[in-house]
Amino acid sequence: MKTRILIVDDELSMREFLSILLEREGYEVLTAADAALAQERLASNRIDLVISDVQMPGLSGLELLARIKKETPDTAVLLITAFSTAEQAVEAMKLGAYDYLAKPFKVEEIKILVRNALEKRDLRRENRILREKASECDGFAGIIGRSPRMRELFGLLHKVTETSSTVFITGESGTGKELAARAIHNGSARKNKPFVAVNCGAIPENLIESELFGHVRGAFTGAVGDHPGLFEQANGGTVFLDEIGELPLSMQTRLLRVLQEREVRRVGGNCTKKVDVRVVAASNRDMADQVKAGNFREDLYYRINVFQIVMPPLRERIEDIPLLVEHLLCKHALSAQVTISSDALKALMTYGFPGNVRELENIIERALVLNNECIAVDSLPQSVRGGTHRFDLYGGVNIPDDGMDLEAAMESLEKQYLLKSLEKAGGSKTRAAELLGMSFRSFRYKLSKYELLPADGMS
Ligand SMILES: Nc1ncnc2c1ncn2[C@@H]1O[C@H](COP(=O)(O)OP(=O)(O)OP(=O)(O)O)[C@@H](O)[C@H]1O
Ligand SMILES: [Mg+2]
Repeated sequence: MKTRILIVDDELSMREFLSILLEREGYEVLTAADAALAQERLASNRIDLVISDVQMPGLSGLELLARIKKETPDTAVLLITAFSTAEQAVEAMKLGAYDYLAKPFKVEEIKILVRNALEKRDLRRENRILREKASECDGFAGIIGRSPRMRELFGLLHKVTETSSTVFITGESGTGKELAARAIHNGSARKNKPFVAVNCGAIPENLIESELFGHVRGAFTGAVGDHPGLFEQANGGTVFLDEIGELPLSMQTRLLRVLQEREVRRVGGNCTKKVDVRVVAASNRDMADQVKAGNFREDLYYRINVFQIVMPPLRERIEDIPLLVEHLLCKHALSAQVTISSDALKALMTYGFPGNVRELENIIERALVLNNECIAVDSLPQSVRGGTHRFDLYGGVNIPDDGMDLEAAMESLEKQYLLKSLEKAGGSKTRAAELLGMSFRSFRYKLSKYELLPADGMS
């Protein structure tokens, strides 16, 4: 495809001169005698570069430039004029012209300028495409989502990867806390060092200390040799303390010391060893409650809660469900051809998911066992299609101790009502709007505002 240049000048001799010169350089050339004609050409042709006079009857070259930058920003613009002033030049550059040429100019000069302007335009276009791809990207290090809640989360995760700060991840079961912990490690400068995950609730109480901090030979019966603990093994990397709320009080005291001193002492040993680890802790319990109840040391809580990351429950980001389903189908389906019916997808989008993404993943895996082409409503569990508790507030209205975002909660509620009404109305937006006592227009507006429409598109 030839590079196409549009020459805009009210002077015929100038149009002819530039046409001949640039055609000889191998470009395809179109011409226009004024800005209005130029806009017509721009509307019906792909134009790579516009070379325009500034002083013309009708719209000036500067005004044309402003319109081009607005309507076809990928088109480069070179301005030429006989009456060059510094102010005009500055304005042209501000508006995005690549350069400004004063008449009379040299043939060589214009050749070089054209070449440079085109090169720069290609670069800019590539960058724009890259940027668009990046922002369309549907996740962060394997954490899928593009809802506002998730975008906010990705921003926080990105910020925290650049530090070595202790991170506390909270969120209901199955919201992706471990996934986030791994993303933090993999995105950080520690990524080539170990990521050691410890489930504080799964290790027997009498073994936790030696597991975490190691032991020396003979420290207790069965300690046949020296053994480095998980903190030492993670040196340089990240320790993920999952279910930190399960840590016994005695261990909390030990952990607090380690976090303060940044050194560990093996059980039965008498020397300490410096360790450089980033601690990421997670819990699905309300830790402030645990502190109040005396089950968790307040000082340790503050030490851990330096940078808190809250994983949103799936029911507060239902617009991510189609994307997650697609991702999970890719992850678990044996063939890439498996699809999901729009009814099944709608049913999923109106379900409350107490088990969050893990539950969705289980549902998809189970459905895949029953179907190998298209997942239909009848391959979803009764709880999802039954609709008895599809929409409730899980135990009524509840305000967490550390407060809540009422607006987000109301938004989530609104989204669920919108989807529910659509479902009840068999997909008819007019009927659905009636059911909710709102006008068709505002119903449609809300659907698009919350990006709830894509569900229609999938079959
Ligand atoms: N945003 C997400 N995108 C893709 N997969 C996800 C996402 N969130 C969670 N998952 C998947 O869901 C499952 C549960 O995630 P994970 O183990 O990180 O949750 P969790 O919050 O640690 O749960 P629990 O509190 O029960 O330990 C995993 O298989 C994980 O890959
Ligand atoms: Mg977990």
